[in-house]
Amino acid sequence: MDTNGRYFKAFEKRVEALKGQFNSDRAKRQHAKGKLTAWERIELLFDADTFEEVDAFVTPEAQQFSFGTVEKSYGDGVIVGHGKVDNRLVFCYAQDFTIMGGSLGVVHARKIAKIQEMALKMGAPIIGLIDSGGARIQEGIASLAGYATIFHNNIHASGIIPQISVIMGPAAGGAVYSPALTDFVFMTNHTSYMFVTGPNVVREVLNEDVTSDELGGAEVHARKSGVAQMIFEDEENTILGLKKFLSYIPSNNVDNPPYVESNVATPDINERLRDIVPDDPNKPYDVKDVIELLVDKNSFYEISEQFAPNIVVGFARLKGKTIGIVANQPKVLAGTLDINSAVKGARFIRFCDAFNIPILTLEDVPGFLPGLDQEHFGIIRHGAKLLYAYNEATVAKITVILRKSYGGAYIVMNSKNLGGDFNFAWPTAEIAVMGPDGAVAVLYRKELEKSEDPDAMKKELVRTYREEVANPFVADEKGYIDEVIDPAITRMKIVSAFEALQNKWVKAPARKHGNIPL
Ligand code: HXC
Repeated sequence: MDTNGRYFKAFEKRVEALKGQFNSDRAKRQHAKGKLTAWERIELLFDADTFEEVDAFVTPEAQQFSFGTVEKSYGDGVIVGHGKVDNRLVFCYAQDFTIMGGSLGVVHARKIAKIQEMALKMGAPIIGLIDSGGARIQEGIASLAGYATIFHNNIHASGIIPQISVIMGPAAGGAVYSPALTDFVFMTNHTSYMFVTGPNVVREVLNEDVTSDELGGAEVHARKSGVAQMIFEDEENTILGLKKFLSYIPSNNVDNPPYVESNVATPDINERLRDIVPDDPNKPYDVKDVIELLVDKNSFYEISEQFAPNIVVGFARLKGKTIGIVANQPKVLAGTLDINSAVKGARFIRFCDAFNIPILTLEDVPGFLPGLDQEHFGIIRHGAKLLYAYNEATVAKITVILRKSYGGAYIVMNSKNLGGDFNFAWPTAEIAVMGPDGAVAVLYRKELEKSEDPDAMKKELVRTYREEVANPFVADEKGYIDEVIDPAITRMKIVSAFEALQNKWVKAPARKHGNIPL
């Protein structure tokens, strides 16, 4: 190549100008807010020297609008490209807040849309590192249309490639809806926030003073709204958490999840499992202890830990292969199902099903949470989502009933007739239409009223109910579960059951789509 040619000089000048754009005091402004720059985030995410930028020089025309100007900058405030994360292809866009607040103008939107379309064609995950003031006000309707294209692409790719949004600054206005359409939202505590209308609008309309953090910070979305599944204390840990997360999921819907050599084998005969469920049926225990003993050592990656903790969901590895776990948590609300836990479970199950991740259900649930709030806010509608998601899922599905399995909750948690492939129960299982106290109260109310010693009579009836009805052996003998198993061999049982289900294939009936009760 003629390095003295006039085009080469122009080329070098442009490369220098691009570098200069990111080396200025813009970085200082980001750091002063406790944030990293878009490039620093990319460098943390991708394997060294693997990120290839696309459209680095795409430049909006400097424009004078009737309301403000658009700065002429290379890239228009967003870096897009692809690279390797743990040696696997990943596409990414990273918004640069230092350029017009990372706001989304026409060119910025076109770049994101282009990389979304490439990720879909290549069957690789796409990650959005979001740090943006939302639609670029100066560009008006054109910015809104840009968002619409991005939302279209999000929906089009849903269930085909994993889409993950990482909020690392503001995500305001309609800009929140791209993350909401993706599979998982990660946030960094105190430096990221998401809201449809910001604190200023809240003040104007409702005359209430709230901070950005109170309105839509990471804690709020992780605990209350359920919008964010994963939150971390700083950006570095957010990206490390994201990389770990990626190690569990496949690149697309026809791929299998990555296999990771499990270096520490947990013994198959695990006596500790026999003692986890307390003798007293009303005493809680931590279902995460059961999970830790069943899966490959330290492989459990919990999702939505703070939201609806009465159900625990997450990924883990079983002999190196990814599984999804859905477990009732007796430690919180006695493991009852409520609106939030039903929605949390259903969404997780649908992700696993879309991406070929087998599901293990660990059940200990006394029933649905009773009460006015639950009924009025629609536990019927939301509980149906969990039912629907379990039944609709065609991946391998195994349930182990650890203790309580009563009423509608028995049915919902992947019961045999709902489509469970293998349903096991521990000898501690209580399977019946309702708990002993409720059953006795309904069936023997009149007799108890007439009794001279109602307490003694009730105690005796509860004992008989437990012995004759609420135990796993009745279900076992009638074939409503496949087997009552010794807790100590549970890991071995589920490993062998998932192996047997490895080539499970179910043909769904032809239809446009089902109508999950939203
Ligand atoms: C154009 C914007 C912008 C925007 C920020 N900037 N948001 N420019 N359009 N939406 C510019 C600012 O003018 C400023 O430019 C620079 O970015 C940094 O912003 P600051 O306000 O100085 O930063 P900070 O104090 O950190 O506040 C960040 C912020 C605030 C909270 C995001 O900028 C803000 O409230 N922006 C508007 C947020 C919003 O309401 N967005 C919704 C838009 S409507 P200079 O030149 O001074 O550095 C929408 C609908 C989409 O998104 C609908 C899709 C369906």
